[in-house]
Amino acid sequence: METLTLESKTAVAPKTVITPDHIIQIGMGFWASKTLLAAVKLDLFTEIGDGSFTGEELREQLGLHTRSSTDFFDTLVSLGLLCRHDNGATVRYGNTLETSIFLVKSSPAYVGGLLEMANDRLYPYWGSLEEGLRTGQPQNEIKHTGKPGFDAIYAQPAVLEQFLNGMAGAQAGNFMALANVFDFGQYNSLCDIGGANATLSICVARQYPNLDCLSVDLPPVAPIAAHNVAQAGLAHQIQVGTFNFLADSFPTADVITMGNILHDWNLDIKKMLIRKAYEALPENGALVVIENIIDDERRQNTFGLLMSLNMLIETDGGFDYTHADFNGWALEAGFRSTEKRSLAGSASIVIAYK
Ligand SMILES: C[S@@+](CC[C@H](N)C(=O)[O-])C[C@H]1O[C@@H](n2cnc3c(N)ncnc32)[C@H](O)[C@@H]1O
Repeated sequence: METLTLESKTAVAPKTVITPDHIIQIGMGFWASKTLLAAVKLDLFTEIGDGSFTGEELREQLGLHTRSSTDFFDTLVSLGLLCRHDNGATVRYGNTLETSIFLVKSSPAYVGGLLEMANDRLYPYWGSLEEGLRTGQPQNEIKHTGKPGFDAIYAQPAVLEQFLNGMAGAQAGNFMALANVFDFGQYNSLCDIGGANATLSICVARQYPNLDCLSVDLPPVAPIAAHNVAQAGLAHQIQVGTFNFLADSFPTADVITMGNILHDWNLDIKKMLIRKAYEALPENGALVVIENIIDDERRQNTFGLLMSLNMLIETDGGFDYTHADFNGWALEAGFRSTEKRSLAGSASIVIAYK
């Protein structure tokens, strides 16, 4: 291997100024991250809504101390997460277009559920990433309560609700894109495995009124899913069911979907779930998986790679994977072919055809 000396590196690109900026930006990235998470947790964006407020009005509304509130608001301005209108003596703060769409609770596109969950759970649990890397053990409620897998999260109703809202926040944009990227029109029925609060079924059913949908998950989740389906006025089209996908076979359907399910589990369980999907589908049926599929070179999809580290923090054996990985598992289960299509941002679908 060629050894690069400082001189030889400089000789390769004599005009390039090497700085530590990139390293420092990433290393101190938690400052910006926690500032946003705190703003969401304090309901800052929702309090502002469509209005604009002076710093003092905002400080009082949020119950903040005088010492750092201006720094807090102006940091958010410099991060592009608030607008500040300087009008002579009066300075007023308002939402940006993005924060008014995605961080005001009354907005249908609200993604703050994910960030609230990140603030309360992931932020502290990621604090022990090194321990996770050394031991291979999860660092979340599983470590703190000794209960396995989802039992630990589902033992506390408030944590369950926040977890479900967090997942809905993470996936809502992907599920809306899914309804455009995959043509459900050629199928009669859909079963969403681990459908949580039925967000996928609701997004797809709205666009395909002739598709019969079934959203199945563990028993504690069903009442929340049923409530959401009723609120969306889709109880005639979406059924909510309970089952345990580790023990039971899958309900039959023309299309089986799994959003962020496979990445929760180790390789043996991933393969078992894909095999169960194969067995429940008719000839020409399709398994559609929605995840932050890592690029085959494992270089580009940083969010997907970080999500896989998040699976270390959150699960006993879960990990994210590439399309090439999925293709191998699906062909082994008997599927005839697979393909990958991009959704919003870092997420994709991988489809296995029977
Ligand atoms: C990471 S969440 C994904 C939820 C949703 N599909 C999405 O894309 O946002 C995993 C889901 O699997 C469900 N789940 C976990 N273990 C299960 C089991 N043994 N049987 C059925 N559902 C299960 C959880 O309740 C949870 O809703």
